[in-house]
Amino acid sequence: MTILVTGATGNIGRHVVAGLRERGHALRTLSRFPGGPDSVTGDLTDPATLHSALSGTDTVFLLWPFMSADGAAEVVDVVARHARRVVYVSALSAENGGVWKEVEDLIRHSGLEWTFLRPGGFATNTFEWASAIRAGQPARMPYTQASRSLIHERDIADVAILALTEDGHTGRTYPLTGPSAITQAEQVHIIGTAVGRPATVEEMSREEARAAMAGWGDMADAALDYWQSIIETPEPVLPTVEELTGRPARSFTQWAHDHADDFRPLPASEVAEQYVAAFRAGRMDAATRLAASDVVRVAPLENDGKHVELRGLTEIMANAERLNRDLDIHGVTVDGPFVQDDRFAVRFSFDVTHKPTGQRTTSAKMSLYTVAGGVITREEVFYLDPPAI
Ligand SMILES: NC(=O)c1ccc[n+]([C@@H]2O[C@H](COP(=O)([O-])OP(=O)(O)OC[C@H]3O[C@@H](n4cnc5c(N)ncnc54)[C@H](OP(=O)(O)O)[C@@H]3O)[C@@H](O)[C@H]2O)c1
Repeated sequence: MTILVTGATGNIGRHVVAGLRERGHALRTLSRFPGGPDSVTGDLTDPATLHSALSGTDTVFLLWPFMSADGAAEVVDVVARHARRVVYVSALSAENGGVWKEVEDLIRHSGLEWTFLRPGGFATNTFEWASAIRAGQPARMPYTQASRSLIHERDIADVAILALTEDGHTGRTYPLTGPSAITQAEQVHIIGTAVGRPATVEEMSREEARAAMAGWGDMADAALDYWQSIIETPEPVLPTVEELTGRPARSFTQWAHDHADDFRPLPASEVAEQYVAAFRAGRMDAATRLAASDVVRVAPLENDGKHVELRGLTEIMANAERLNRDLDIHGVTVDGPFVQDDRFAVRFSFDVTHKPTGQRTTSAKMSLYTVAGGVITREEVFYLDPPAI
């Protein structure tokens, strides 16, 4: 019985893979990037690429890591054509509708045997504060007194492994949370204790937080309202992890100890190595965690070649999206890092197709990074071959 694990490079998936391997299960992993021996390249936004990953599989661990259910029907259909059973990572908020509920409904009507895992907020969401804490700056957020029952990703993975490998979970929906609700301010304090260096908190106004949530679209106001509401009414703490696994859910203190290295200040050489490793693994989340939230990028804006200074991850990502909107990126080769004192350089070569003309080219850029306080504070971009923009 072969199990296909999607999201295998992610927070939950990597523990699902490790746990299944330990127990001797035959498995295959899906990633958009070439990987290890059991890894098959495929993209959930392109269902045609999923057949080879799914062929001969019986059971699928499925993530839908998108803000909309567009394209999910085709993917569920392809999964149902190959496999018998699916364990889908939904969300606690599916009880109020939204993308997770839409994907659940597609699966419910697919003929697949299903189990839905409905976790609440992940402890990994606090990685958002990693660059500030590394740099000894306050972690900034709205509603510092919001109380959350964050869940350790290993608990979700443990439940997933049971549902993937044991009988008796078909047609079951498992709401999952951590073992206690603690405020965001307390979470920062606990991380500081785990790191061995006090970490501080600063409350952002709602307006400031709203402005920083450009990528959230329509969901930003609902999320802010929700965080405000859990000041008075902390998130629920549910017994499901313990009932299913036979041991209490892992605490946030445990999580902070497991991830203390992600919040510790690093020497420039280590930042450089981790940054390049994150790029090679296609882990943009891990790469951006190594940058200060007010990082400056000096790069061309639009296609006029003129360099401008962009400040902050939101502005930088928006510009990158503008620069790449006409490109299909097939692969990236990363050379480096070339480290000297508190600076390092990386050469990126992109294999791209310019969508309007269909022309396939290679474009290369060299980025020069400055590290201060254990995080990247500045990137200067030099195009070696002009990008096809
Ligand atoms: N964060 C929360 O509080 C929360 C709460 C409830 C539910 N959830 C759900 O949990 C899931 C995230 O789980 P996670 O934290 O373990 O994941 P993650 O660490 O965010 O990693 C995302 C995974 O999705 C894969 N992926 C992204 N785009 C893909 C694509 N186009 N095709 C194929 N694979 C793709 C990535 O694989 P490659 O990069 O290798 O391709 C990666 O393994 C999401 O579905 C989210 O909605 C999150």
